[in-house]
Amino acid sequence: MTDDPQQLEPSPEFRARARVRSRADYEALHRESLADPETFWSRELAGLLGGWSSVRQGELPDATWFHGATLNVSERCLDRHLTGPARHKAALIWEGEPQDAHGQPETRTLTYLQLHREVVRLAAALTALGVGAGDRVIIYMGMVPEAIVAMLACARLGAVHSVVFGGFAAEALHSRIVDCEARLVITQDGAWRRGSVVPMKPVVDAALALSPGVAKVIVLRRVAAALPVNMTPGRDLWWDDALALAHPSTPSAPAQVDAEHPLFILYTSGSTGKPKGVLHSSAGYLAGAYLSARHVLDLQPDDLLWCTADIGWITGHSYVVYGPLANAATVLIYEGAPNAPDPGRIWQIVERHRVTILYTAPTAIRAFMRWGDAWPAAHELGSLRLLGTVGEPIGPDAWHWYQRTIGGGRCPIVDTWWQTETGSIMLSTLPGAVPARPGRAGLPFFGVDAAVVHPDGRPCAADETGLLVLRRAWPSMLRTIWGNHERFLAGYFAPIAGVYFTGDSARVDADGYVTVLGRVDDVLNVAGHRIGTAEIEAAIGTHPAVAESAAVGRPDDLKGQALVVFVTLKLGHHASPALHDEILAQVAHEVGKFARPDELRFTEALPKTRSGKIMRRFLKEIAAGRETTGDTSTLEDLGVLARLRAAPEE
Ligand code: PRX
Repeated sequence: MTDDPQQLEPSPEFRARARVRSRADYEALHRESLADPETFWSRELAGLLGGWSSVRQGELPDATWFHGATLNVSERCLDRHLTGPARHKAALIWEGEPQDAHGQPETRTLTYLQLHREVVRLAAALTALGVGAGDRVIIYMGMVPEAIVAMLACARLGAVHSVVFGGFAAEALHSRIVDCEARLVITQDGAWRRGSVVPMKPVVDAALALSPGVAKVIVLRRVAAALPVNMTPGRDLWWDDALALAHPSTPSAPAQVDAEHPLFILYTSGSTGKPKGVLHSSAGYLAGAYLSARHVLDLQPDDLLWCTADIGWITGHSYVVYGPLANAATVLIYEGAPNAPDPGRIWQIVERHRVTILYTAPTAIRAFMRWGDAWPAAHELGSLRLLGTVGEPIGPDAWHWYQRTIGGGRCPIVDTWWQTETGSIMLSTLPGAVPARPGRAGLPFFGVDAAVVHPDGRPCAADETGLLVLRRAWPSMLRTIWGNHERFLAGYFAPIAGVYFTGDSARVDADGYVTVLGRVDDVLNVAGHRIGTAEIEAAIGTHPAVAESAAVGRPDDLKGQALVVFVTLKLGHHASPALHDEILAQVAHEVGKFARPDELRFTEALPKTRSGKIMRRFLKEIAAGRETTGDTSTLEDLGVLARLRAAPEE
C-alpha cells in the first residue's frame, strides 16, 4: 500500500455533535481507561451495566471483567429501553431483496416494543422445547429480522447461540453443530439472494443426517412456495407452530446471569483445518460493543445505521445487533445482494431509508467503484454523515473514492481494525476527535493497549513494520476457544510472551496511527471472508484423486486476496479440466461456495524444504507473479523451480 500523507479533519458541524471532540480529550480518556479502569468503565457504562465488585480480575491471558455484576444481555438491549423514549422507536428496519412490479420491496419495521415482544415469544417457545441457560443453539439463517430475534431470544434464556453464516455448506455446518454439541437449530426454508432462492433447510437436513444430537429444528418460512421443504416429524417445527407451544404461564423474565456467562460462540478460521469456536462473555462483550458503537460509529438518537455485514460474522453480531441495540439505535438490515437487480440497489436503499451511517467492507467498496459512479450519482445520498470500513486494509484509492463519491466530501471515515476474537473495534479514529488518514486504521480505542513489536517482543520504532499485539486484557476479548483452552493459549499467547498476538503485521507512524498490513499466519482474507488455508487443504484432501495440496493467497484488485491452490495427484490420476472442476466443487461442497478457490494449478510435486515443509512463500510468489496458461490440464514442475532457487529452510 502506498503511503498517503493526507489527512481528513472532521468538519466543525460533525465535531460539535460528537461525544469526544479533540485529540487531547481522546488521549485523556484513553489514558484514564488504562490507568483507572474502575472510574472509566463505571462512568461510561452508566445505565448499561453496574454492580460489579471488581472491574477486572487477573491479567492476560485469563482476565475476567465486571466480577459480581449480573445481567441479561437481551434485557440490556431491549427491556431497558421500554420505559424510555425509545419504546416506540424503530429498532430494526428491514428490506427484503425481491421487488414487486413497481420496484417496491417488502419492508418491515420493528419498534423496540415489537422486537421485545417477538423475542419474549420465541424465548418462551425455546423454553417449552427444553432450551435453558448454557445450552447451545445453532442459528443458520439469512438476513431476516427473525435471525436477530433468535439471537436475542437465546440471550434472554442465557443459552449460547452460535450463528453459522448462511453460505456455509452442510459439512461445515455439521462440524460446528458437533463441536458445540448444539441441541437445537433455528433456520429458514431458503433465502433470497440475487433473484434466486438459496436453500437453507435442505442444508440443515444434510448436516443433521450426520449429527443426530440435535433434538429440534425450528424453521421460519421465508420463501414458502419457491422451495418446498421436508419436515422430519418429531424433530422439525415451523416457527409459528413453535411459538404456539409456549404455555401462557411460561416465565417471561429474562435469566440473570453472571458477567462472565458465555453469550455466544462464533466459529472462525485459524491455522489448522478445524475452525475455532471463539467464545465471548456477556458483560465484557456487551460493554465493548456498546461503547465502540457509541464512540466510533458516533451513534446519535436520530441515526439510521446500516452495517452491511451478515449476522454470520462478528461484525454482524457487534454492529448490527448488540452494539446498536444496547444504544437504543435504529438499524437497517437488508436481505440480499447489493447489486440485485442492478448496482443501484445499495444507493437506492440509502436514499429510500435516509441512512446516516454506512459501515461496510473495502472489498464491497472496490466493487462499487468498479460498477461505476453513475449508480451512486443517480441517488440522493445527502443523508449520510459518517462512513466506516472494516475487515481488511483499505487502499487510498478506495478510501478517496468512498470519501468523495459516497460521502460527498462531507463525511468522516472510520477505518476500524478488529477481529472475531477482539469482539469489538480495537483501532480506529474517533470521528469527531481526530483526523482520519487514508489507509491507516488509527489509534487504540478505550481500554486498548496496542503495540507493534519484533518477534521477540521488543517494540518497533516509528514506521518500522512488525507484529501487532495487544498488551493488556480488554473487556470484549474472547475468553477461550470452545472446548480447547490449550489452542487458545497456544494460538494467541505462545507466539510472543506476555501479550495477545493478533496474527497481523502493522506499523505505527510518528503520531501513533497504526497501519494494519495483513495476516502473517495461514489465514487469508478473501473478499472480506476469513479463510484458513488449512481448511481449504483439508476439503481438497477429501477428493479421492488428490495426494496433497497447498492453498495460498495472491493479491487481487477486487477481493483483496484471491485463493490459489496447488494440487498434486495420486498415482494413476491425471490432470484434466474435469478433475479441475471436480476439486473446486469439492471445496464448495465441504466448506461453501464463497470459499471456492479462484485458481487451481496442478503440479507434479509441491516444493518442500529438506525437512518436508511446504515452501509457502515460494508458492505465494509463483501465484502472484506468473501468468498461468489457463490450461487446466497442465502439470507444472514446481520442484525443479524450487531446486533451482535452492531456497533456505522456511
Ligand atoms: O487481518 C485483519 C483483518 O481481518 C482480520 C480479522 O478477521 P475477522 O475475525 O473475520 O474479523 C473481521 C471483522 C472485524 C484481522 O486480523 N482486518 C480487520 N479489520 C481490518 C483488517 N485489516 C486491516 N484494516 C482493518 N480495518
